[in-house]
Amino acid sequence: MNRLVVVSNRVPAPAAAGAQAGGLAVALEALMERRGGVWFGWSGNLSEAPGPVRLAESGRVKYATIDLTAEEHERYYNEFSNSTLWPLLHSMPELMTFDRRNAQIYRQVNERLAEALQPMLRADDLIWIHDYHLMGMPQALRSRGVRAPIGFFLHIPFPSADMLASVPEAGALLRDLLAADLLGFQTENDVENFAEVACRIGDAVRMPNGWLSVGGRRVRLGVFPVEIEAHDFAAIAEDAWRAAPTERLRRSLGGQRLVLGVDRMDPTKGLLQRVAGYRRLLETRPELRRRVTFLQIAAESRKDVIAYRDLRNAVEREAGSINSEFSEPDWMPLRLVARAGARSTIAGYMREARVGLVTPLRDGMNLVAKEYVAAQDPQDPGVLILSRFAGAARQLGAALIVNPHDADEMADALDAALTMSLADRQARWRESWTAIQGASALAWGRSFVGALLRTAAAPLHARGVSGGDKGALAMANPLGLIARPLGGRDVDLTDGSTALRPPHMS
Ligand code: F6P
Repeated sequence: MNRLVVVSNRVPAPAAAGAQAGGLAVALEALMERRGGVWFGWSGNLSEAPGPVRLAESGRVKYATIDLTAEEHERYYNEFSNSTLWPLLHSMPELMTFDRRNAQIYRQVNERLAEALQPMLRADDLIWIHDYHLMGMPQALRSRGVRAPIGFFLHIPFPSADMLASVPEAGALLRDLLAADLLGFQTENDVENFAEVACRIGDAVRMPNGWLSVGGRRVRLGVFPVEIEAHDFAAIAEDAWRAAPTERLRRSLGGQRLVLGVDRMDPTKGLLQRVAGYRRLLETRPELRRRVTFLQIAAESRKDVIAYRDLRNAVEREAGSINSEFSEPDWMPLRLVARAGARSTIAGYMREARVGLVTPLRDGMNLVAKEYVAAQDPQDPGVLILSRFAGAARQLGAALIVNPHDADEMADALDAALTMSLADRQARWRESWTAIQGASALAWGRSFVGALLRTAAAPLHARGVSGGDKGALAMANPLGLIARPLGGRDVDLTDGSTALRPPHMS
């Protein structure tokens, strides 16, 4: 079996694997535990000067990490990744800042990571690069002579060509991405946007069956929606619902219905709009006051980025304003918790909540929506209210789908969810559960790796790889599989994981 080399900005520390993992790490851990391999990226630490690669091993996974300097952390992570690319790729240009120096440091970090990784690579490795922090890496590896198959997966949305044009560096990064063999996205819409931009500014030409032709070589595009271990999460939620934290929450509600939001404190999550929708509910349905409590868990995130600090202040202001306007001496309509909770605790809260409010302004997938569905009691399920701008809405059409910008629509959906009949709640839940229960994070990872193997099976000239690499490619494709069409899902039928997944916040 080919060794898998995963490259991501954040690498979970082996000792604490999963403890505070983000969505990306959670999605990958199942695959890495089962398949083994190398996991390479930023250590999460800063050091004064660029340091050496540090190695650690846990189970079948070798962790290889490097520190960033304070300047790199500021300009590559806080600035270019999270203040330029994050808002750009989420189509929120009003939050975007751009500075050419930040773009240069972003590129330098991508080059430095490629430089550090290259000597560790073997000819028969499969390289899988993740997310918007590392868009320069496919080309940075190729220019160092790396010929092994390279896959790249974008966990967040990919915007339209016009949107992308607002960042001068974006065209160059797009061309860097095209040095990969397989580019994976969360939804068909992301693939379409990417293909259009690649043709407009990357000199790519569309070919049949999901391939692009670029400068004499071929690149495959595919849709790989990230999944959760739904059955495991359901079991955790069932246990947690009876445990002390949920019991305490239940007691504190005194029979009121719980509306729950669980997010990182992030401008893309639509927290202010969500609070506005709840305010509209309280204004227009006075009969619901005292009968409902909204608990918003908004875990602090990227706190060095100004937009995130501003958001926290604004959300706290709005929450305070709702509470002072509508509270009674013995009832508080909104509880805001700016800390992450333990995974099982959140799962228990989800099962307790009559309404799961997942209303991002834009989201690649949003695994909280899937977790809320998985956490429900099939006999007495709650109702998911889901933004039409979350990738998950394509799979969870039985949720109440809303436009988070429309406070009245949010209030209507909240009202409908809070008063929905049991039969309707059950029918909607069953449909949502059917959409997620057969999938898993492990199967997702395996399907991408399977597709990368099949992509590598394309004729060598099509991949633009020179003859000297034939041996490596033959090893990289022991099954001799062929590529599937764009949009087609690759399902690895050997998947049988029931491993428990740690908590995540997408
Ligand atoms: O893909 C989005 C992502 O990078 C996830 O990996 C992670 O869950 C989340 O954002 C948190 O981001 P950060 O690494 O900046 O804390």
